[in-house]
Amino acid sequence: MKKIAVLLMGCGGVGRHLLQHIASCRSLHAKMGVQLRVVGVCDSKSLVAPMDVLKEELNDELLSEVCRIKSSGLALSKLGALEKGGYRVFNASELSRETEEIAKLLGKSAGLAVVDCSASMETIEILMKAVDLGCCVVLANKKPLTSTLEHYDKLALHPRFIRHESTVGAGLPVIASLNRIISSGDPVHRIVGSLSGTLGYVMSELEDGKPLSQVVQAAKTLGYTEPDPRDDLSGMDVARKGLILARLLGKRIIMDSIKIESMYPEEMGPGLMSVDDFLHNGIVKLDQNIEERVKRASSNGCVLRYVCVIEGSSVQVGIREVPKDSPLGRLRGSDNIVEIYSRCYKEQPLVIQGAGAGNDTTAAGVLADIIDLQDLFH
Ligand SMILES: NC(=O)c1ccc[n+]([C@@H]2O[C@H](COP(=O)([O-])OP(=O)(O)OC[C@H]3O[C@@H](n4cnc5c(N)ncnc54)[C@H](OP(=O)(O)O)[C@@H]3O)[C@@H](O)[C@H]2O)c1
Repeated sequence: MKKIAVLLMGCGGVGRHLLQHIASCRSLHAKMGVQLRVVGVCDSKSLVAPMDVLKEELNDELLSEVCRIKSSGLALSKLGALEKGGYRVFNASELSRETEEIAKLLGKSAGLAVVDCSASMETIEILMKAVDLGCCVVLANKKPLTSTLEHYDKLALHPRFIRHESTVGAGLPVIASLNRIISSGDPVHRIVGSLSGTLGYVMSELEDGKPLSQVVQAAKTLGYTEPDPRDDLSGMDVARKGLILARLLGKRIIMDSIKIESMYPEEMGPGLMSVDDFLHNGIVKLDQNIEERVKRASSNGCVLRYVCVIEGSSVQVGIREVPKDSPLGRLRGSDNIVEIYSRCYKEQPLVIQGAGAGNDTTAAGVLADIIDLQDLFH
């Protein structure tokens, strides 16, 4: 039985689903000859770990308690009150030192998969050290891969040691498919993707003739947007995904070189307008312009989509007219879609489509990534 030691950073929606999937897949993994050993879980302020990470692990009962505590909005440190022995809880000041200690103990011996399901920039330093200490890295967090080229190069230096399928399209096999195309020497000329479920939903509702302000309000009520919908409408999240894909293709670009079309003007930005003011007074002023663009697109046989286009050395993110009868044009609702054009997929692109968000599918993508590392463990 191969034993894969896992240290999880981030215990929000995705991290908790990952712990649940790990527990519920025990017998499946045993049949595959693999056993996942969780040797650490952290949130932003604490780390819980077994007394001896070389011999022990956090058992499923404790992992379920971790999930219960975190889903009730409490800090992981609350586990301390339930102390029954067998595990330790470290506070914020000890967190990075103890995480590094676990990486030192396991990295070059039995191996360790450091899994980042946070949404933080702060994990980057820990990830850099983990790589130096011989650990594998699995990411749902996009920020480490969209930071400086120096950070990117270090993470990507040993491609067998890093997996990050869930950073683009959640559980959809976008990164895996692209890696296969790249490794077969098939040159990728162009990638076009609708990579935000929220913006996908917004654009297909606009196509039905609804005003932008109404569509965004409805998307917020349905829970499709971030608490401040401008986080989606800014296009930053799509740009991060575009940067990850472009860097995978070997392009040496940084975030600042990406041309991003935000769906709202600067003067309606978060620093200048409250969320309420934006939703009740700001966004209605954008309705007419977008309605005209929808009509113009329709008269050209097209629909509007919020896409990321990677071509040559450029990455552009924004609203584009696409033919109604193309895969992108036929997209409805919150699905993601990626069209990849290469020598082998020249006229008809390789198309990957499906749910591109959700804690369950994202965590499933992370789990498959961890299992994919099994050959590096014994
Ligand atoms: N949900 C999706 O559909 C989806 C899809 C694709 C990718 N992703 C990515 O997956 C990641 C997780 O998403 P989520 O929805 O689970 O986020 P979330 O609910 O906001 O959870 C984030 C977790 O990270 C923890 N955290 C923050 N800073 C940390 C640090 N420095 N070290 C360790 N843990 C830290 C937080 O701790 P506290 O609890 O103490 O605040 C929290 O437990 C994000 O990067 C997101 O972009 C999500």
